Amino acid sequence: MEEKGATMATILDGKAHADRMLEEVRLQVEARLAKGLRAPALAVVLVGEDPASQVYVRNKGAACGRVGIRSLEFRLASDTPQAEVDGLIDRLNADPTVDGILVQLPLPKGLDAKRALHRISPAKDVDGFHPMNQGLLLEGLPGLRPCTPTACMSLLAHHGLALKGLRAVVLGRSEIVGKPMALMLLEQHATVTIAHSRTRDLPAVCREADLLVAAVGQPGLVEGSWVKPGAVVLDVGINRVVDLALGERIFAAEPRKLEVLRTKGAVLCGDVRFGEAMEVASAVTPVPGGVGPLTIAGLLLNTLTACEAQGR
Ligand code: GUN
Repeated sequence: MEEKGATMATILDGKAHADRMLEEVRLQVEARLAKGLRAPALAVVLVGEDPASQVYVRNKGAACGRVGIRSLEFRLASDTPQAEVDGLIDRLNADPTVDGILVQLPLPKGLDAKRALHRISPAKDVDGFHPMNQGLLLEGLPGLRPCTPTACMSLLAHHGLALKGLRAVVLGRSEIVGKPMALMLLEQHATVTIAHSRTRDLPAVCREADLLVAAVGQPGLVEGSWVKPGAVVLDVGINRVVDLALGERIFAAEPRKLEVLRTKGAVLCGDVRFGEAMEVASAVTPVPGGVGPLTIAGLLLNTLTACEAQGR
C-alpha cells in the first residue's frame, strides 16, 4: 500500500468545510444581533425513539448552539396520532418567533410523512422537501433547497471543481438527495445521469462519471473498478456495518475499518469502498467526516435564509 501513496486521491474534508459554512452563519447571526434583530429559531419535531434520529437531533441542537441559532425541540411519543402532529405543525407555522421547521424522518409506522412535510409552510421548510420548494428548484428559482445537495455543491465550489460540461452520475433517486442533487448539477451545466437499482450495468454507467455522487444507503456498493481514473467521488451514504463477512469483502483495501469492525462489532462506512476509490479517484469524501457534517451546516444556513426571507 505504501508505495501507492504518491498516486492516492485527496481526501475531501467535509468536516473542515462544514466548519467554514458554520462560521459564516455564526458571523451573520452575530451581525443580526448587533443590528438589534433577534436570533433565528429552528423548531425540530421528533416523533418516536428511533436511535439514529435521536443522534441527528442532538447534533442539530449542538450545532445551533455553536452559531447562535435558537433551537426548539418537540418530542412526541411514537403512538402520537397524525392529527396531533398536524396540530403542532400548524402552531409552529403560525408562530412568528419560529423561522424554520424540521420534522425528523423517518416517522413511526402509522404516520404519513408526506402529509406532515406538505403541511409545513414553504417559507419555514428548512429541509426543502415541500413541493413548492421542490418546484422552485426544478424551475431554477430561489427557494429553500435540500440541505445535503446544497452543502455538496458548496463543497465542490470551494474546491473549484468546474462543473460545466462535466459528466456527473448521481447514484440514487431519493427526494432528499438524488433528485435535488441532479437538478443542482444540471443548473451548473453538468451532463447528469441519475442511476439507481434498476439501472442496467451500473458499474459501466458509474465509470463514465467525472463526478460520482453515491446516495443509495448500501455499504460499499461502489467498488474501485466502478470509478473513472481521476474522478471526484462524493459519498453520501452513512451505513452501520455489523456483518463481518460483508466487512471482509468491502474493507479489503481498508484494514483499519475491518479492525474496528472486528474489535467493536460495528463500523460506519459509506456507499463507496473508500480504500479502493482512493487508489483510482482524484478526490473522495470519507465516511464519517465527509458529507455528514455538511448536511447540518446546510440546515443552519437554510434556517438563517428562511429567517431573513420572512423579513424577521
Ligand atoms: N432523516 C435523515 N435525513 C434527514 C433529513 O435530511 N431531514 C429530515 N427531516 N430527516 C432526515
